[in-house]
Amino acid sequence: MAIPVIDFSKVNGTGEERAKTMAQIANGCEEWGFFQLMNHGIPEELLEKVKKVCSEYFKLEREEIFNNSTVANTLNALAEKNSGEKLENVDWEDVITLLDDNEWPSKTSGFKETMTEYRAELKKLAEKVMEVMDENLSLPKGYIKKAFNDGEGHSAFFGTKVSHYPPCPHPELVNGLRAHTDAGGVILLFQDDVVGGLQILKDGQWIDVQPMKNTIVINTGDQIEVLSNGRYKSTWHRVLASPDGNRRSIASFYNPSLKATIAPAPGLVEKDGEEIDQTYPKFLFGDYMSIYAKQKFLPKEPRFQAVRAL
Ligand SMILES: [Fe+2]
Repeated sequence: MAIPVIDFSKVNGTGEERAKTMAQIANGCEEWGFFQLMNHGIPEELLEKVKKVCSEYFKLEREEIFNNSTVANTLNALAEKNSGEKLENVDWEDVITLLDDNEWPSKTSGFKETMTEYRAELKKLAEKVMEVMDENLSLPKGYIKKAFNDGEGHSAFFGTKVSHYPPCPHPELVNGLRAHTDAGGVILLFQDDVVGGLQILKDGQWIDVQPMKNTIVINTGDQIEVLSNGRYKSTWHRVLASPDGNRRSIASFYNPSLKATIAPAPGLVEKDGEEIDQTYPKFLFGDYMSIYAKQKFLPKEPRFQAVRAL
């Protein structure tokens, strides 16, 4: 079983071909929470540059630091003890987050220019994907974008996580990234061409997100679940540590502004003219994030209950 791979260029078409593609995306959102886009419109040349600068950045600015990090040292000490105990509260991951206004790596030539261009492209792609979701959910065009950007001048939060999962000497004792659902809106992942490790939980089984060259993996976070009143559920995922290969993974997330009020779209809380009893809560995204920060690796339902109680 493999997650759906969809030709995104076909949504620009007309007629039956477009309808079929829209239906594939609806199915990806409803049944999987994860799907891969090909022909997504991001130039190949740019993607090749992104891979190059991110790998160079890791080699030049991070590898040595990671090899001497607390996680690396703790894992080695634990393996020497040979007690069968696992490293539970950390991830075998090297990560930085790029925002419009934070400090970026500065030693790797071309990093800043390339990643700035990449982020601008990915943000546009996110908005396009959200428009497809609007249409599939029978919401007005631009509804999700507007909800995330909030009416009072607060912009959506667009971040890019540049991660590496270096070869791990004891992959049985630690996770690359512990299982979780994503807090935010729409996540766009540019994963390694070769080194896998990302898995999603579907019908009780962990399934690999198969590496494919230059595709973009889309997944939906908890806020899309709320906004769609449960039609599009956020999906559990994790990254396994691997003994060989250094997995590169670049995840961009289009999240609501912390000041945005998130609630189920009014059109989705009724069925046949009658209100559905069970609806998702309404809350400030910033309040949700305060809870998520403490509960990221736990089930999402208690988070929804906690914001409902506020
Ligand atoms: Fe995630």
